[in-house]
Amino acid sequence: MCGIFGYSGKRDAAKTIIDGLKRLEYRGYDSWGVAVVSSDKIDVVKKVGAIGDLSSLSKLPSSTIGIGHTRWATHGGVTNYNAHPHYSTDKSFVVAQNGIVENYQELKEKLTKKGYIFSTQTDTEVIVRLIEDKLKKEKELFKAIRSAFLDLEGRNTIIVLPTSNSHIYAVRNGSPLVVGIGKDEVFIASDTLSFADKTDKVVYINNNEMVSYHGGEVSLYDVKSGKELKTKISKLEHDDISIAKEGYDHFMIKEIVEQRHTIREAVQYSLEELTPLLEAIKKSRNVYTVGAGTANFAAGQIAFYLRRYAHINAIELKSYEMESFKDMFSNKDLILAISQSGETADTIEALEFAKAKGAKVASLVNMLGSTITRMSDYPYFSRSGPEICVASTKAFTAQISWGYLLAKSLTGKYSQARKDIEVLAEKLQNYFNKKLFSQMQLLAKKMAKHEHFFVLGKGQNYYIALEGALKVKEITYKHFEGFAAGELKHGVIALIDKGTPVFVIVSEDENKNDMMSSAAEVKARGAFVIGIAKKSNELFNEFIKTIDASELDPIANVIPFQLLSYFLGVSLGNSPDKPRNLAKSVTVK
Ligand code: F6R
Repeated sequence: MCGIFGYSGKRDAAKTIIDGLKRLEYRGYDSWGVAVVSSDKIDVVKKVGAIGDLSSLSKLPSSTIGIGHTRWATHGGVTNYNAHPHYSTDKSFVVAQNGIVENYQELKEKLTKKGYIFSTQTDTEVIVRLIEDKLKKEKELFKAIRSAFLDLEGRNTIIVLPTSNSHIYAVRNGSPLVVGIGKDEVFIASDTLSFADKTDKVVYINNNEMVSYHGGEVSLYDVKSGKELKTKISKLEHDDISIAKEGYDHFMIKEIVEQRHTIREAVQYSLEELTPLLEAIKKSRNVYTVGAGTANFAAGQIAFYLRRYAHINAIELKSYEMESFKDMFSNKDLILAISQSGETADTIEALEFAKAKGAKVASLVNMLGSTITRMSDYPYFSRSGPEICVASTKAFTAQISWGYLLAKSLTGKYSQARKDIEVLAEKLQNYFNKKLFSQMQLLAKKMAKHEHFFVLGKGQNYYIALEGALKVKEITYKHFEGFAAGELKHGVIALIDKGTPVFVIVSEDENKNDMMSSAAEVKARGAFVIGIAKKSNELFNEFIKTIDASELDPIANVIPFQLLSYFLGVSLGNSPDKPRNLAKSVTVK
């Protein structure tokens, strides 16, 4: 979702901002803009679409200070005009925003009555006019921004660039904000990845904190009281900051193949490092695992492992459906957040609910230094390296392998679990080969003419059916629906028609017979059955052999769906790394 990037230093501002915005691209966006200051004047360039043709930047004067933004439209269509940064009426400052002003209509009404003219439907323009209005009374921009910000409802982070040389202001509430401190240069951005190739010194900005950058100095204020705060510089510990396709056509396929080692990296925790969380889980009445989308399915799989192998009362919750659970949390509970970005607004809100009732917070996050990490009593990292493709693949399987280690460690089987994951990682070394890719491409070809698909799973493969279906629908825009196989007879079977493709995920476990019965039932109604299994079966019209990973089958079984999603998406001419309408980091509700 929207990305913010501000720069001041010795480098060329526009070029540095574009570099930063490109490193924020993975968050998803539909338009972008850059503003720079030169000779007490702000020049802005805005464009719809991806950052590609940079010829428009030649319109910008040479400058060493500016801000940029990647926009993921919420209020107002995808147009050059609606793209950020937005000018104030007298062009004395520009604003870019990440978030949603929830009370924008009310504010707009008030400002309209005062005579302010609005030319867009964006909530950002409301912030601009509000600052203008506050300036009349406050006189100083710093004070006006503070005062305006306090009137905004919702999760918002804004960055303001005035004409007065060498100033940038930014305020955070909800949407992420970090400051990178380089040698004679400063970066103010939505995440550390955007400047991790330039500096490893970072100041994490908390909610309701305001950054004031002036002439090489960064000062921090409490936005409510206006009191100056101490800035704490931390060291970035990104183990992998490169963002390159490394010979692959797309990040998606690169990240799918990387699972050969990322499942192993996610479990590089010693038993000592896991022990505080293990103890906290043992003491808890309930463990709630929470996440959104793919991360929610990983949360579900982890809850499954905790119940199944460690007999923990673990319940998976969807972070965007927490309302009825709000009063259920207590200090006897533990909430475990699963998130690639660590910035998902729904998941952050879920943690806030739980924290307010005294529950302990644990998390597994892929982005170091993210908000969820900083909210956690027990923060852990999935260590998959940057996941650039919007659709999550390697982060998902890393989350599952960490969850498996966690569950097994609770019953004293830490070493065995590490070994199991190592064995699977070894098997994956040779798994991604030409033969498999050709088979998946062939299957993609057969599937291309269909519009509706069903995926059935049970037990350890239930969440894999959900995730498998989500992955394919994200990249192919085809209707894939994942179900618990048990639901078939209770309604879903009505959808099965002659030729309907139905994927059945079969492990060599206690659910195999039930799964084969489901396969038989859909086949009897004319379905084209695709078995994702260890062994072929006469019921399968198509058989995709997966690695026998026993209790880690969920990892092995999701991979064919990731590959189908990629190959089918590419063959349909879709963009696998940036599927339509989707954003990587969903920082608004
Ligand atoms: C799907 C996908 C999303 C995310 C979800 C949560 O491929 O990536 O469903 O899983 O938006 O994001 P994180 O994991 O960053 O909290």
